[in-house]
Amino acid sequence: MWGGRFQGGPAEVMEAINVSIDFDKRLAAQDLAGSKAHVTMLARQGIVSKADSEAILQGLDAIGREIAEGTFTFKREFEDIHLNIESRLAELAGPVAGRLHTARSRNDQVATDFRLWVREACERARHGVLMVQKALVAQAEAHTETIMPGFTHMQPAQPVSFAHHCLAYVEMLARDGSRFSDAGQRMNESPLGAAALAGTPFPIDRHQTAQALGFDGPARNSLDAVSARDFALEFLSAATICSMHLSRLAEEIVLWASPAYGFIRLSDAYTTGSSIMPQKRNPDAAELVRAKTGRILGSFVALTTVMKGLALAYAKDLQEDKEQVFAAADALDLALAAMAGMAGDMKPDADAMKRAAEKGFPTATDLADYVVTKLGKPFREAHHIAGAIVKRAEALGVALDQVPLADMRSVEPGLTEDVFKVLSLEASLNSRTSFGGTAPVRVREQIAFWRERLT
Ligand code: ARG
Repeated sequence: MWGGRFQGGPAEVMEAINVSIDFDKRLAAQDLAGSKAHVTMLARQGIVSKADSEAILQGLDAIGREIAEGTFTFKREFEDIHLNIESRLAELAGPVAGRLHTARSRNDQVATDFRLWVREACERARHGVLMVQKALVAQAEAHTETIMPGFTHMQPAQPVSFAHHCLAYVEMLARDGSRFSDAGQRMNESPLGAAALAGTPFPIDRHQTAQALGFDGPARNSLDAVSARDFALEFLSAATICSMHLSRLAEEIVLWASPAYGFIRLSDAYTTGSSIMPQKRNPDAAELVRAKTGRILGSFVALTTVMKGLALAYAKDLQEDKEQVFAAADALDLALAAMAGMAGDMKPDADAMKRAAEKGFPTATDLADYVVTKLGKPFREAHHIAGAIVKRAEALGVALDQVPLADMRSVEPGLTEDVFKVLSLEASLNSRTSFGGTAPVRVREQIAFWRERLT
């Protein structure tokens, strides 16, 4: 394909380091679409004849069928997907195939193919995120009154509902979805027609090809068009952040499913057994979702490192972009699908959650708030009073609402019987009615908000 000035063949290791067909065959569909748009435009502009463009289009369609049917042979001697398709086209259509590469280079070709691929990956990720959100909202709907301990520092802090906890992840995922959508929109400019780096003297119409491929328009600078890969980095960074969120939820699922917590049960569908310990029920899917973050962040770091210090315009370093993105996208697709499955599969154990919520005096803040409201004390003083009552409860070995009123009054004489009304988990949950709070009335509003948006 490019051997005109060459005499000797490549060293074996040259071929080994140069070849990319083993992984860039994943760009076949995009490459065919780009070529069709290109040759159609060449014919419209009178750069190739109508008959030639039709022969080329027919050949490209035949190749598309061969690839779909698995009969296409990808050959390492042709380096990459672009040359593999072009050489097969020459076999199918004859010498006219040589006209396809007029006014184009593999540099703008690969940049176009890859943008199309990553644009689709953004869409897929958005859809995957949506599936996880839906599963979490369904859990929330069933559990606005299911009380669990809310933690800070992994210490019991205040009671929250399981619904509220699930919706926290729905919020994170919404931002992930919007990052994929932003990235997808920003990358939607066509490099095609930038040619090798400087543009082309042929009277091409880049607006036409951009439109045919669903781009918003052509990229404005030919050097930038062939050498930019920040679109891939944006995808990888959004993927990294999203996988970090999935990893946090996965970690909670691992904890919750352990007998020490017993907050949820996962079905056989999302657990595995141990080959030695018959009693085991391991949350492997959650653990693997948690682990995928390493691979995805690794891809982001790897590609950023490839890009840094690269002088304009194209250099073969850029060929290293694809494996990183493919690996990260595959890992993310899997992680999102597994998490959507698990989020729907979790069976919360409301009693276990409640028992855990009773430990660690989680309504101590409610007691302090009560002292502020009923006795008009400054919060700092109320905090001190509640702390002394917690100390007393600890000494007696009872929960806050089991401390005798007399003991409480020895700390603060102003306290009366109705203090007990604020000390239950339910009262605490119901009282947190500030916007964004865990009270069931507020959480139900949030569920309605998400129900509407996620359809
Ligand atoms: N396989 C190459 C890549 O992925 C295609 C572009 C090759 N261009 C070149 N001038 N050698 O980047």
